[in-house]
Amino acid sequence: MNSMIKVIPALAVFLAIVTIPVWINIGAEEMEKPELPEGMSECIESREYMRANHMKMLDQWRDESVRGSDHMYTNSKGQKFEKSLVKTCMNCHSSQEKFCERCHESVGVNNYCWDCHFTPEQMEAN
Ligand code: HEC
Ligand code: HEC
Ligand code: HEC
Repeated sequence: MNSMIKVIPALAVFLAIVTIPVWINIGAEEMEKPELPEGMSECIESREYMRANHMKMLDQWRDESVRGSDHMYTNSKGQKFEKSLVKTCMNCHSSQEKFCERCHESVGVNNYCWDCHFTPEQMEAN
């Protein structure tokens, strides 16, 4: 009898650990995917590069653009883009909410950028 009392909590802990991958998967399925631009296949750099480096890219763009040194970005294919969050990124990624935020919410990034910069949603409302 005594040994049963010890076994039950141990079994509960064991079951919880074993089923963790299932819980994590349920969470991943419920998370909404960022909405990619329709009818376009490429970002300004590869998808992998953008995923890993968009924050650094935006930082650099801001610094270089605001300092007035260089307003144009030339990508790895030689195409030129204006270094602008609103005019370039958001021209293709037409929703801050359905694109940027879907990822950021899940990783807890607070995009204070939109305290000052207009989102496409805000511009539409104006
Ligand atoms: C010319 C249109 C265009 C511009 C400009 C553009 N993007 Fe993209 N972006 C896309 C497309 C299309 C994809 C999907 C690419 C793919 O599937 O390979 C994408 C993918 C991404 C991804 C990866 C999303 C994912 O789910 O993997 C990020 C992050 C991203 N863009 C951020 C940005 C940022 C930040 C800027 C501005 C610095 C920007 N994009 C400018 C069209 C654009
Ligand atoms: C595919 C998922 C994804 C998409 C889409 C995405 N981001 Fe991010 N972003 C991230 C992740 C993950 C981080 C955190 C990276 C880290 O902590 O190193 C991040 C960080 C950032 C940061 C740095 C924030 C800080 O506090 O340092 C900025 C700025 C940023 N993203 C801007 C954007 C903008 C603007 C868009 C929409 C055009 C966008 N991101 C779309 C995944 C994404
Ligand atoms: C306190 C207000 C404020 C905040 C917060 C802010 N910005 Fe800006 N940003 C500005 C101003 C002002 C300019 C200069 C506007 C101009 O040159 O037309 C600028 C310019 C830029 C530019 C270059 C010009 C352009 O059209 O985009 C980029 C890129 C940029 N910011 C990115 C960001 C990103 C990314 C964040 C968040 C990590 C951010 N900013 C947060 C005020 C802000």
